[in-house]
Amino acid sequence: MIVAIDGPAASGKGTVARAIAAHFGLPHLDTGLLYRAVGASLKRRGIALDDVAAAELAARNLTLDDLADQSLRDRHVGEASSVVAAIPEVRAALIALQRDFANGRKGAVLDGRDIGTFICPDADVKLFITASSEERARRRTLELEARDEATPYADVLADIRKRDERDSNRSSAPLKMADDAILIDTTALNVEVSIAAGLAAVTKAMGRKAAN
Ligand code: DC
Repeated sequence: MIVAIDGPAASGKGTVARAIAAHFGLPHLDTGLLYRAVGASLKRRGIALDDVAAAELAARNLTLDDLADQSLRDRHVGEASSVVAAIPEVRAALIALQRDFANGRKGAVLDGRDIGTFICPDADVKLFITASSEERARRRTLELEARDEATPYADVLADIRKRDERDSNRSSAPLKMADDAILIDTTALNVEVSIAAGLAAVTKAMGRKAAN
């Protein structure tokens, strides 16, 4: 079973994806980490984020082992990742890794921006998880505080809006809900209810598929 989950930054999609993966015993890939790892690799080596050849090479050389680094979740890495994610050569270099992961023996849960629309267009279930930008900024502010990266709410909101704008308007595989995705808006939902909504949507979609 392949579950594709897309949505904007801090919408709760990662939390729901992890819960679905654990519930159904499926491997999970947070595809945002791939773009974060490319951005972090360039920054670490002092290479400009618009150096297409260097970014493509970093993407080609990525392995799943590179994604365990906790610093990939830092705020400045999020910004860098959104810049390199707009480079078509970087996106192309990461397709095979994502599709191979999805097509493993058991299937998988992948979350990102273009999973249901581009990476796994034939996924068994597609979810699009979103929330208002203000609520997402509130959550990210708390998360950054917990990580000792305390940042004013207004700055986090500005970051989120800038990333939404870049992720939604790039020419290559922009953030977009697939026509056949199930929409879950978590603005007014707490974590437990968001997870329950995700599990219920997958269970229902699988039931419908089995009946057909
Ligand atoms: O979900 P995240 O914040 O970790 O994602 C980091 C960046 O990577 C985000 O700005 C958009 C990009 N991304 C993407 O373009 N396609 C994906 N499938 C996942 C993330």
